[in-house]
Amino acid sequence: MFYRRAIRPALFGVGRDAETIHERVLGMLASVSRSPTLTAALAAASRLGQPASDTLAREVCGLRFPNPIGLAAGFDKNAVAVPALVALGFGFVEIGTVTYHAQSGNPRPRLFRLTSDEALVNRMGFNNQGAAAVAARLARMPKLPVPLGISLGKSKITPLDEALDDYLQSLDLLYPYGDYFAVNISSPNTPGLRALHERDRLDALLAALAARLRYRAANDGRAAPKPLFVKVAPDLDDAALDEVVAVCLDREASGLIAVNTTVSRDGLSAGVPQALRAEQGGLSGRPLRERALSVVRRLHARAGDRLPIIGCGGIFTGEDARRMLDAGAVLVQLYTSFIYEGPGIARRIVRDLS
Ligand SMILES: Cc1cc2nc3c(=O)[nH]c(=O)nc-3n(C[C@H](O)[C@H](O)[C@H](O)COP(=O)(O)O)c2cc1C
Repeated sequence: MFYRRAIRPALFGVGRDAETIHERVLGMLASVSRSPTLTAALAAASRLGQPASDTLAREVCGLRFPNPIGLAAGFDKNAVAVPALVALGFGFVEIGTVTYHAQSGNPRPRLFRLTSDEALVNRMGFNNQGAAAVAARLARMPKLPVPLGISLGKSKITPLDEALDDYLQSLDLLYPYGDYFAVNISSPNTPGLRALHERDRLDALLAALAARLRYRAANDGRAAPKPLFVKVAPDLDDAALDEVVAVCLDREASGLIAVNTTVSRDGLSAGVPQALRAEQGGLSGRPLRERALSVVRRLHARAGDRLPIIGCGGIFTGEDARRMLDAGAVLVQLYTSFIYEGPGIARRIVRDLS
């Protein structure tokens, strides 16, 4: 637990803005990613003492995942560090969320650590370089040994009623580079975005995206369209979750990602200062785990095997991942535990699971 004892205290030191640290760490991973030699060295160091194991490999939606532990969207929004992240042992990486227009996001500070509860609150607001810049970077990236997911979101300046074209334009630019696409309708930090969970809006959005993926597949001579996942919010009630499942089945979405961050502050300990609790934004990490599990159980009960689920929210240990898989998920993603547990988290969970 060298990371927790020595590195984390230095990174989390008083007075250091959480986002500044994030940028530094991402910058280091980006430097590694630019050098195939350093990337190979990182992979070798990260594998030390941990023999590669194929026992957890699986196929989902026609894609082969060497292990079921993925890095969730939001960590590498602009795809600057993907090879280094893969070298750390993730079985898949989801980049983004990417919007059609480049945007700077909300004013800083916008990322807060609730250290006593191993949680984060963020209101980043989809800061990213835009679909064209991210596509140009992905075009230069070497081929990856794991699936790459691309999360798509709505640009802030685009009115909700024009969201569909905004998503389609991003999809067109990024299409060649993603192994699967995730429609993000569940960030709490873009005003109005979550209204896209409503039946008619979601129906129109998925119909258009699925049609575009079918069209591109036909053009490319692919046997099947690239998979399309829908990422849902944890703040929906059962009726709303059931409706999302119904629309996804109708419109032939490939699967679900559950869940994004929550606007609820339930389950925080008394150790979290009132000022932090009151920060606006989405909560992630340990306090989200039980809600994420119950959402996955509900979605799985409704959809069965027709919609594979990527479970996400508060996964820190092999036991957490096992419970998520038992709840009905076929793959798991994490973000917050990467911050709290460090770069060995994916390999540790894989080892504990196997
Ligand atoms: C700082 C931060 C930024 C995030 N940005 C995105 C994003 O751009 N798109 C997205 O779909 N989810 C985003 N998320 C949500 C995560 O992908 C994940 O769904 C959520 O944090 C729950 O998982 P966790 O408890 O393992 O962190 C973000 C989370 C954090 C903490």
